[in-house]
Amino acid sequence: MKLLLSITLILILLNTEAQTSPGAQVSLPIIPAPVSIVRQTGKFTFSAETKIIVSLLNNETSLSADLLSQLIKNPSGYSLAVTEGKKAQKGSVLMVLDNTINNDEGYNLTITSKEVVVRAKNAVGLFYAVQTIRQLLPSEVEQPVLKAGIELSLPSCLIADEPRFAYRGMHLDVGRHLFPVASIKRYIDMLALHKMNTFHWHLTEDQGWRIEIKKYPRLTEIGAYRKETVAGAQKKTNNTFDGKPYGGFYTQAEVRDIVAYATSKFITVLPEIEMPGHAIAALASYPELSCTGGPFEVRKLWGVDDDVFCAGNEHVFTFLQDVLTEVMDLFPSKYIHIGGDECPKKRWEKCPKCQKRIKDEGLKNEFELQSYFIRRIEKFVSSKGRNIIGWDEILEGGLAPGATVMSWRGETGGIEAARSGHDVIMTPGKYTYFCYYQSENHDNQPLALGGYVPLELVYGYNPTPKELNTIEQKHVLGLQGCLWSEQIQTPEILEFMAYPRTMAIAETGWTPTGNKNFDNFVERLNILGKRYDNMGVTYFKGEYRDTKALKEKK
Ligand code: ACM
Ligand code: ZN
Repeated sequence: MKLLLSITLILILLNTEAQTSPGAQVSLPIIPAPVSIVRQTGKFTFSAETKIIVSLLNNETSLSADLLSQLIKNPSGYSLAVTEGKKAQKGSVLMVLDNTINNDEGYNLTITSKEVVVRAKNAVGLFYAVQTIRQLLPSEVEQPVLKAGIELSLPSCLIADEPRFAYRGMHLDVGRHLFPVASIKRYIDMLALHKMNTFHWHLTEDQGWRIEIKKYPRLTEIGAYRKETVAGAQKKTNNTFDGKPYGGFYTQAEVRDIVAYATSKFITVLPEIEMPGHAIAALASYPELSCTGGPFEVRKLWGVDDDVFCAGNEHVFTFLQDVLTEVMDLFPSKYIHIGGDECPKKRWEKCPKCQKRIKDEGLKNEFELQSYFIRRIEKFVSSKGRNIIGWDEILEGGLAPGATVMSWRGETGGIEAARSGHDVIMTPGKYTYFCYYQSENHDNQPLALGGYVPLELVYGYNPTPKELNTIEQKHVLGLQGCLWSEQIQTPEILEFMAYPRTMAIAETGWTPTGNKNFDNFVERLNILGKRYDNMGVTYFKGEYRDTKALKEKK
């Protein structure tokens, strides 16, 4: 970094067109905005002779070389040669693994008229540099055939870049509605393009169990299908139903394919298996795992069900451990998400087995029973060398050791967890739930779950609460946007709700706060919008301002 800074200073003195100042990185349309950009005169142009030279070619580094090569080949037909080597050549792109770069995901990118040089500590940094290069190439590269007169060139500049947070995620609920594998891969593509590194895949719900578990086939034979679905916006009473059976699931082969695809884009897939609540699809399949014995049907309404896994029944723990064993075999992630949210205690209060457990374990109440449940699962997961993440309700009755908290009911849970030395991922609904409307005017949007989460509000969210001191703030691993799919019936609606709010999460997760500026973000977004259009990605193009806040200001 120091060396780069001195080179940067010399180059500024010699040959600078524009230097960035905090919040003013207008010149280059990159999201998330890099840590530092120095513009210079000139440009680098790709040709059929451009070579990609990599300091060490292996499975991981070749992902970036191949991606860049493909990016150029798609529109131009040029097949860039990829070779191993340590020296730049005129007209080449050199990718170097460089230990002097501090950040695990960081990179430096130097573009001159002669060459492009990328330096990164790890392969992932090379990959992120290629995403920056992609965003700097004309948006026409995303089209199948390059229009005449479009040059594949990059503006000369020096970029030094690294993320603010280690966790930059997007969640997707496939329980309420599920999406084809191709659509999940496009979602992963968009995360990669914006340097996000985690796809949180919410795989089980009251309304559908979506992952094949070999040991318990009824989970998908029965639990993956509901008879019908509540139509339109759910009311307190008098709902109508659509009369259409709905369902489906991902086979283990499909799961492996998606995980491998994400891995090739340096994205970790974080699987979520919900417990003890949001479990009706599982209980419809295996009613003996409930407190009452059922029968149940896969839920047709949204919301929260009173029936949950019985915390007094040993078979429940055997079942969940078996499920998690298959899940851990499919997902190599360090973390396993075990849900933990919205578990009513009504059944446990009346269940003799649950009450016996409370007595035998010396627990005070049903909240401590929930804590017992999660602690037991945590012990199992950590015995396999993994760590659990749970929604902030896992704080109730005492947090399991080693648990990471996803703070969704505001930041309070996250603050409490960080203060007690636990890691935290911020996903407060008010700022990061993309199932809510993105403008006050509902005419230009499909039916949403309600709420109001405009782009400006998402963008302005800072995941390190001022209530935490600097040491406690280090427990905030990052942030995540969440997409609950009650009202997301199609891949198009999924993209419409996800973008561009995902890009705001990406920028907050990566860019130093001092470099953030909403007007400038929207300018860059408008330029990148052409790329999304060319990629065929659907996104909301309406009001990005927080109009409610503007009115309140007046
Ligand atoms: C949640 O929104 N129930 C985590
Ligand atoms: Zn029970």
